[in-house]
Amino acid sequence: MLRAALECRSFENIMAKSTRYKPKSKSKTQESVRTLISCEDIQRRVGQMAQEIRRDFPTEALHLVAVLKGSVFFLTDLARQISGDISLDFIAVSSYGNRTETSGEVKLTRDLDSSIEGKTVIVVEDILDTGMTLQYLLRVFEQRKPRRIRVAVLLDKPERRLAKVRADYVGFTIPNEFVVGYGLDYAERYRNLCDVGVLTLGTKVKK
Ligand code: IMP
Ligand code: MG
Repeated sequence: MLRAALECRSFENIMAKSTRYKPKSKSKTQESVRTLISCEDIQRRVGQMAQEIRRDFPTEALHLVAVLKGSVFFLTDLARQISGDISLDFIAVSSYGNRTETSGEVKLTRDLDSSIEGKTVIVVEDILDTGMTLQYLLRVFEQRKPRRIRVAVLLDKPERRLAKVRADYVGFTIPNEFVVGYGLDYAERYRNLCDVGVLTLGTKVKK
């Protein structure tokens, strides 16, 4: 039983690392993921971003605020590579649900645990798309009187921008494609992929 579970897990790991991952989902839609940014490139770039952030604030305590759930993988890798004093908190907002298009409406679904007053806050986001989420969050945070706020995003899709916001630290600028992996999901799936890949929702197929 245990052996079967382990074998199953290692199979999933191999699949997660392959360049073209076709999950056997029960849905009637054939989905596939084409690798856009490899695990190695993500790790290298996140390390550079950590250094950029620490270089800008060499002596300050940094309060990293991650937007659940997509940015959790990015947060943990980033936080471990920033030297010195770090604290963490989490916030959650409503997002895409099971679709690939945003509703444009942003709602706070989980607030921070602690006050950000007087702190140097780094907002950690997985992807900057229309910018509606970030615009909403920045408005909320600015009212709470932080010392200053900076924004770190792993991915930036500038073509889709509707709100007038920008990130201070950007991992990768990507084209207008729906991506999954390294925390990013489609209907809660694919977050565990090590790479970031473009999701294709193919034509409906018979079961
Ligand atoms: P925005 O408000 O349109 O900028 O979208 C921000 C949020 O939408 C991100 O934090 C993601 O959770 C989600 N999102 C945007 N683009 C993608 C994508 O390509 N794949 C998965 N989630 C996305
Ligand atoms: Mg997000």
